Amino acid sequence: MTQHTGFDVLIIGSGAAGLSLALQLPEHFSCAVLSKGDLASGSTFWAQGGMAAVLHDRDSIDAHVADTLRAGAGLCHEPAVRFTVSQSRSVVDWLVAQGVDFDRRDDLPDPEFREFHLTMEGGHSHRRILHAADRTGRAIAEVLSERAKTAPNLTLLTNYCAVDLIRHGGRCVGAYVLDTKHQRVEAMSARAVVLATGGASKAYLYTSNPDGASGDGIAIAWRAGCRVANLEFNQFHPTCLYHPQAKSFLVTEALRGEGAHLILPDGERFMQCFDERGELAPRDVVARAIDSEMKRLGLECVYLDIRHRPADFIRQHFPTVYSRCLELGIDITRQPIPVVPAAHYTCGGVVVDQHGATDLPGLYVIGETACTGLHGANRMASNSLLECFVYAASAAKHIAATCPEPSSPLPPWDDSQVRSSDEDVVIKHNWLALRRLMWDYVGIVRTDRRLQYARDAVALMLDEIDDYYSRFTITRPLLELRNLGLVASLMIDCALKRRESRGLHYNQDHPDTLIHAHNTLLTPPGASQHRLETGDRLPAYTDVT
Ligand code: FAD
Ligand code: SIN
Repeated sequence: MTQHTGFDVLIIGSGAAGLSLALQLPEHFSCAVLSKGDLASGSTFWAQGGMAAVLHDRDSIDAHVADTLRAGAGLCHEPAVRFTVSQSRSVVDWLVAQGVDFDRRDDLPDPEFREFHLTMEGGHSHRRILHAADRTGRAIAEVLSERAKTAPNLTLLTNYCAVDLIRHGGRCVGAYVLDTKHQRVEAMSARAVVLATGGASKAYLYTSNPDGASGDGIAIAWRAGCRVANLEFNQFHPTCLYHPQAKSFLVTEALRGEGAHLILPDGERFMQCFDERGELAPRDVVARAIDSEMKRLGLECVYLDIRHRPADFIRQHFPTVYSRCLELGIDITRQPIPVVPAAHYTCGGVVVDQHGATDLPGLYVIGETACTGLHGANRMASNSLLECFVYAASAAKHIAATCPEPSSPLPPWDDSQVRSSDEDVVIKHNWLALRRLMWDYVGIVRTDRRLQYARDAVALMLDEIDDYYSRFTITRPLLELRNLGLVASLMIDCALKRRESRGLHYNQDHPDTLIHAHNTLLTPPGASQHRLETGDRLPAYTDVT
């Protein structure tokens, strides 16, 4: 068994954020990229609709900024929005240079000079979604993985699950990592550590996300003393497939962008009653409208209908959705698609500045794990992949310019006080109970009472999980449960702190939106003390009151 002890940079996560950062570090930096599953185990691989970018003459950075601010319901951090959007062209150039083959318009003569085909999604005032049919994430993930496999300075470690960070002298100097194949913990040292572990949508029973979306990076950064923000804003995607055999299957918003209607079982459209933008209103509005119609009429689902578009067009633009639905007996060229909202994206996360730097020197957080201020109270469709690439590039530059000398040897992992568990049922039980509780009590529509109940119930679960963690050998399911429980409790704390309704957070006891928007910032116990001791600077992203 190889021991991997020291790197210049340790990147935890191999999605869009982690891999693109790794590929942009100088080649003389040795770098490990960890994934707790295989390289494509994160959400990136499953992204369908595409990536927003300002490419068309009629579009503009100002328009993309304005749309993002509007979708974010007054809570976006405008400098972060402008910074991200203004980098979109260079991100596209970089991805194309890596070999990503985005769809181009087929109505122009010369294939080499064809413009990109841009599609439309909710909240956007222009066609600006670059895509590879409806499997954009896969197209990106495959290209970046191949590049990473041949990069001489990168060590790719799959089935390695980060447990916690190691701090020394007020800096992050490495991480404890569980090699899940050999059930052994290694202490890996690094001059800089990057958390790119994706989101926490597994906190909910129904989600579009793959299994690993257990909020590990948020929990790990919190335990290391970093602030988190805006975790009450869990985005529910309006249209996930409703079918007993379809676990976590998304029906891309680009279908609505290309004209699909949301209808009730009797065929009636309903979105115009909720918002003049109809099916292309931002996600919070559409998800709440569907939730409201389902509750009003006692429905198990509503339907997405694209039958009015030509069958060839549907098959060409949406091959993934078409074939998955067909496997389940639904021909989307002839039948409406049964859909329900499901947890999709974590808008809040670890507080970072424009370089992805956190409160803890030496620690960077990028991608869905971070809270950059871009999304505010509601992420606009297809802004997430863009954010992953923009902040990965910025963090790579910052790390290259500021990385300190290697630190001294790390303390080894101490498991002398634990033994193998003989009651794994505790993990399974709490995993399900937690996710059901979050779905029922911290869902699309909230009340103070339900949130307080959820807070108390999660606190009891956390006690049991902590007790279990302190007595038994760690496994990936235990680590994920411990992280998900902690992140769920942070989500509830954020939700209880917000005494208004805004964007994705709707509380029936506080239905109005306050005039002044403010971020919900949570500081871990002892963290300010830590910052005082180390003289660390705070990220630029602060509470706006
Ligand atoms: P991920 O791609 O989720 O990668 C996380 C990585 O971290 C994985 O490699 C995982 O194994 C690793 N990891 C996690 N915890 C640990 C640990 N403890 N130790 C080691 N490794 C760990 N956004 C868009 O902009 N456009 C879209 O069209 C779009 N479509 C989507 C469709 C679906 C079905 C889903 C689920 C999301 C979609 N999103 C879309 C959102 C977007 O895909 C994600 O926000 C983005 O891909 C997140 O990338 P990431 O690199 O931050 O994390
Ligand atoms: C989708 O294709 O609907 C997902 C887009 C996104 O989450 O940004």
